[in-house]
Amino acid sequence: MLRTLARVFKRATLANDLLQKRSRFYATTVGGRSDRLEGKVALITGSASGLGKATAHEFVQHGAQVIIADNDTKLGPQVAKELGPSAHYTECDVTVEAQVADAVNVAVAHYGKLDIMYNNAGIPGPSIPPSIVDLDLDEFDRVMRINIRGMIAGIKHAARVMIPVGSGSILCTSSISGVLGGLGPHPYTISKFTIPGVVKSLASELCKVGIRINCISPAPIPTPMVLAQIGKFYPGLTQEQIVGIVNGFGELKGAKCEDIDVAKAALYLASDEAKFISGQNLIVDGGFTSFKNLTFPSPDQTA
Ligand SMILES: NC(=O)c1ccc[n+]([C@@H]2O[C@H](COP(=O)([O-])OP(=O)(O)OC[C@H]3O[C@@H](n4cnc5c(N)ncnc54)[C@H](O)[C@@H]3O)[C@@H](O)[C@H]2O)c1
Repeated sequence: MLRTLARVFKRATLANDLLQKRSRFYATTVGGRSDRLEGKVALITGSASGLGKATAHEFVQHGAQVIIADNDTKLGPQVAKELGPSAHYTECDVTVEAQVADAVNVAVAHYGKLDIMYNNAGIPGPSIPPSIVDLDLDEFDRVMRINIRGMIAGIKHAARVMIPVGSGSILCTSSISGVLGGLGPHPYTISKFTIPGVVKSLASELCKVGIRINCISPAPIPTPMVLAQIGKFYPGLTQEQIVGIVNGFGELKGAKCEDIDVAKAALYLASDEAKFISGQNLIVDGGFTSFKNLTFPSPDQTA
């Protein structure tokens, strides 16, 4: 009798725990808002547009204070205004180290700390000429200056304020162009291949002081950057038609890669839910870079 009562009590307690967990989940996600980043301060470079802007929106929705750091002095303040009191714009060209340092200092001055640094600013560089033989090394330097040097400046200055605290999450945007060759122009591809290496190199130091660092590698998404690039090859097409071309690149039936997919990946990596994840490259591509199909000839083509 006593044993049966104990079993009933244990089951009731477990059910109660489950109910409490569920109601906590619903309470924290009602109306699209949640507290997954409550109390956190995030700085996102390249957040006046595209993936950075979508991520800033997602971070604010989940309770973060966000610094919009971008060299676009028109769109940057507009985005901060749209996001409301939880966002603040600061002008920042990632190729100028002093401006990156200032952006980090703005976060600390405004909010007293920096928990999340998302190094997202990047450019595609020229798509033409396609051959290495004709590569303009000054153009190559320009791409590396923004996509790599700018990113390293961001990591350096974030680490400067995170190390004394002994915590933080640093994110970088790579690309599936950094997983497979041939998806983009050489300078862009080379820059994006470098990023997972940067992450692993710096994880070796930052892990020892409690800071996590990861990167995200998205598939093509019709942001202003991609629409402008692909649009150059199809001058006669409407924007809608170009969006259709980009959305058609995927392999996962019934889905397309969207800015929100990157924002959600960033939210996870930035949050405490990823507290034991560091040095990783989270590929957001619906399986695109995971396989290649063998092209079998039909029997009548084998003779
Ligand atoms: N859209 C895609 O398909 C895709 C796929 C994989 C990776 N990425 C990467 O995502 C990142 C964001 O790209 P996006 O598609 O959102 O492009 P986007 O052009 O829409 O946004 C890029 C932002 O970076 C800013 N920026 C550019 N140079 C800067 C500099 N020197 N200093 C500060 N800010 C600067 C721009 O002003 C802009 O606001 C890039 O690193 C890009 O390589 C994009």
